[in-house]
Amino acid sequence: MTHPKRTGARLELKDVTKTYTGHGEDKHVLDRINCIVEPGEFLSIVGPSGVGKTTLLRLLTGLTPVTSGEILLDGKRVTSPPEDLAIVLQEYTRSLMPWLTVEKNIELPLKLKKIAKEERRERVQSAILEVGLEGNDSRYPWQLSGGMQQRVAIARALASRPRILVMDEPFASVDAQTRLDLEDLVLKVRDDFGITTLLVTHDMDEAVYLADRVLVLTGKPAHVAAEIAVPLGYPRDQVDTRAHPDFGHLRGEIYQLIRGKR
Ligand SMILES: Nc1ncnc2c1ncn2[C@@H]1O[C@H](COP(=O)(O)OP(=O)(O)OP(=O)(O)O)[C@@H](O)[C@H]1O
Ligand SMILES: [Mg+2]
Repeated sequence: MTHPKRTGARLELKDVTKTYTGHGEDKHVLDRINCIVEPGEFLSIVGPSGVGKTTLLRLLTGLTPVTSGEILLDGKRVTSPPEDLAIVLQEYTRSLMPWLTVEKNIELPLKLKKIAKEERRERVQSAILEVGLEGNDSRYPWQLSGGMQQRVAIARALASRPRILVMDEPFASVDAQTRLDLEDLVLKVRDDFGITTLLVTHDMDEAVYLADRVLVLTGKPAHVAAEIAVPLGYPRDQVDTRAHPDFGHLRGEIYQLIRGKR
């Protein structure tokens, strides 16, 4: 089965501000966030807990409205869930349906979109292959390890053929070795499809390892403390890339930014 090469979407955040209202006092979380993510680019987003990373991703899905500013996907303003965007969350245990097999879980959003059966079957099979889950079609999520469940969640996201993939701490609940494998899987996915990829992580090493660029958010309300280019080149290698002198230097720089030492 072939994977037609797609082009990633271009994302533009223009003075994006978010204030949550309606719970007594207003909560100003994001303050004039500006960022451009080019088609096919990999952007990691880091920042202290509670800074507003998940909020930023929610705004991208169009389900939570921006307070001011705008989000443009390929120049079109996001006001409802964009067709071309897929999202993977940390809590795979909550995002997969326990009563559906791997195959049915991946197929579900395609059914909701009323995609024809033959096409659904092809997309599900190619997504299963892409994430290395062949042979597990008929198993249930609870029969799989955490890492495999997260692969199912990624496959489900891919089956919708997104042009932008957004992930919120997708590997936070898996063991260290599985995490490295999943990191390399998302790099392969980006490479195979050329999808624009955004990943929120607490792990600065992971942020640098994966990305073309790291967006550092700090402050209350949050602003962009820095956008750091990662000049390490691809393909990356878990041993060699992490041993590169620039790698340590970059992660140190990001660490200091987050701690507010610079
Ligand atoms: N629906 C909501 N209503 C009011 N305040 C909210 C809402 N959702 C989030 N917040 C607040 O917005 C701030 C940012 O939350 P958010 O979940 O975006 O942070 P985060 O950077 O993802 O944190 P973490 O790293 O812990 O996941 C927090 O102070 C949170 O309490
Ligand atoms: Mg969060």
